[in-house]
Amino acid sequence: MADFIDGSDAGALSRFDQNLFDLRLGRSRADLFEPLSRIYGHLGSYDAFANRLTDLLRRRFAERPEALKLRDLERDLNPDWFLSQEMIGYVFYIDLFAGTLKGVLDHVDYLKSLGVTYVHFMPCLKPRPGDSDGGYSVMDYREINPALGTMADFAEVTAALRAEGMSVCVDLVLNHTAKEHDWAKKARAGDPHYQAYHRMFDSDLVPLEYEETLLEIFPAHAPGNFTFYPGMGKWVWTTFNEHQWDLNWENPEVFLEIVDIMLHLANQGAEVLRLDAVAFMWKQMGTDCQNLGEVHDLLQALRAATRIAAPAIIHKEEAIVAPEKLVPYLGVGRHRGKEGNLAYHNSLMVQFWSSLAAGDTLLMSHTLAKHFPERFRNASLATYIRCHDDIGWAITDEDAAAVPNIDAFNHRRFLANFYAGTFPGSFARGALFQDNPETGDRRSSGSFASLAGLETALEAGDEKAVDLAVARILMGFALIAGFGGVPLLYMGDELGLLNDEAYLKDPAKAHDNRWMHRPKMDWSLAARAEKGEGVAGRLLAGVRRIMAQRRATRELAATVPTHIVQLGNRAVFAFTRPGDERTLACLFNFTANIQPVDLGPLFEAGLYGTYDFLGDRVPDLRSGILYLAPYEAVWLG
Ligand code: GLC
Repeated sequence: MADFIDGSDAGALSRFDQNLFDLRLGRSRADLFEPLSRIYGHLGSYDAFANRLTDLLRRRFAERPEALKLRDLERDLNPDWFLSQEMIGYVFYIDLFAGTLKGVLDHVDYLKSLGVTYVHFMPCLKPRPGDSDGGYSVMDYREINPALGTMADFAEVTAALRAEGMSVCVDLVLNHTAKEHDWAKKARAGDPHYQAYHRMFDSDLVPLEYEETLLEIFPAHAPGNFTFYPGMGKWVWTTFNEHQWDLNWENPEVFLEIVDIMLHLANQGAEVLRLDAVAFMWKQMGTDCQNLGEVHDLLQALRAATRIAAPAIIHKEEAIVAPEKLVPYLGVGRHRGKEGNLAYHNSLMVQFWSSLAAGDTLLMSHTLAKHFPERFRNASLATYIRCHDDIGWAITDEDAAAVPNIDAFNHRRFLANFYAGTFPGSFARGALFQDNPETGDRRSSGSFASLAGLETALEAGDEKAVDLAVARILMGFALIAGFGGVPLLYMGDELGLLNDEAYLKDPAKAHDNRWMHRPKMDWSLAARAEKGEGVAGRLLAGVRRIMAQRRATRELAATVPTHIVQLGNRAVFAFTRPGDERTLACLFNFTANIQPVDLGPLFEAGLYGTYDFLGDRVPDLRSGILYLAPYEAVWLG
């Protein structure tokens, strides 16, 4: 155990800082210790644990650089800072975007031109060598991947970006470490203290019992949830890949270690911690070991800990789960306003692609209205159309049953086939991911542009099809910019980067086709796009315009509710954003045909004016009927 946690001298704090710390501790004490006492209260060591935790928080706060302490005060005054309409995220792998960490600073102007205020460095902590699951198999949480730079570079780059108005988000994997992590190595060497950091078993009896109700995450390349290590003579819980060992959160030492790491990263200037794979943190026999109540207790306590010692930061919880399981990550019931600040709006993403393939938005309107509150307390969703992961077709049987003529299983298969490009008439070019013949489950890979039809259109040299693909892509960007939450742009999507087969030549990546939609940034294409050339030029200009309009439109802040409205025309998805000064109505045509829309239901929902703030123009409106062009988006108000 690291010495600072046991140490009694709490570091030097000025009287002002001491008072500040005590005030913040007072504010969040119950948020921290109520859930912790539920989790660890039965342990004889609980009081000592609680004291060590408080000491740790004080010590890390004492070490916090002055500039970040000022940031803390700023965010204490404005805790909803990240809910502003000015928040726009950009997500990239450092090597693929800029070569190295410091190289990121060469592209600040590009980021600013998109209105970016939040940059997510995809996993950048030191990964295991070889296949590291895209960096999610971490062997040292305190070091930056040496191929990208050092922790000193990280602190320098976060400070420089902060000065440019950008907050840095980093991944912190909470469910597992690489088997090469020091804790795992000590466990393998037989140290019982560290064996208790992961979940391990002497025989396969208990693992087999768990397996009865567990699911498989990567059935094709990493089947099963446990791995036997003959040297150690133990079965280790490995939910994802063999090299990713699940942490044992029943052990309070793990909690202390992770809090320490979180504060370490916060003190280097990270402002958003993306907590990876949180749904899996707690295990209970007879369940699927996902989304259990203890997970929410742990996450609330982690949030309270950073609120005390580094209140400038927020937590983004990565849980790609069914809608009713997702909402609790943003705090419901006793966790309201106290858990994650951001979570991925996986449902919006899935429903976008589902509506696009079907040309019908009824399932989308139903699902989003049914499961999601119109706003959250000190929290919101991160909206996105594509990310680095596959698309899992998370459409439940119950939701599908609420819509006439949809069978959930067949619809999910239709979507997977449509986006693999094998369904007759599909415009998409993608691939199946983790096709599971046992359950019939299949997921999808592919870049935004290729899935939206750009690749096939360009290949066919079909100008009209290219126009339609561009319109689909821009509609997607307008959707995530308008919906509410923080829109995330995935690197290269603003230029329409297509699927990239380069990964097939890399043995550490070839087995995982998610790499097809993780391309290298094409800076020469970006330079041509900058001059307005080609499809990339149209897309880049379009995305910049959408993001600029978002930033200028107060009703799009995540503090304003998002109210889904069902229109008479199922081809069109709509919601209102009832702001203080006016109600905005956002509409999206999910088909390649002109769609007439009777605005009646929107007027009833508070819409007053009909100017299009997205296009900055008067829309095609005749006798109360709005005519939307193929894949057109408008923001009326
Ligand atoms: C998250 C990541 C994914 C990774 C998994 C295991 O879901 O987004 O890429 O494979 O966690 O760490």
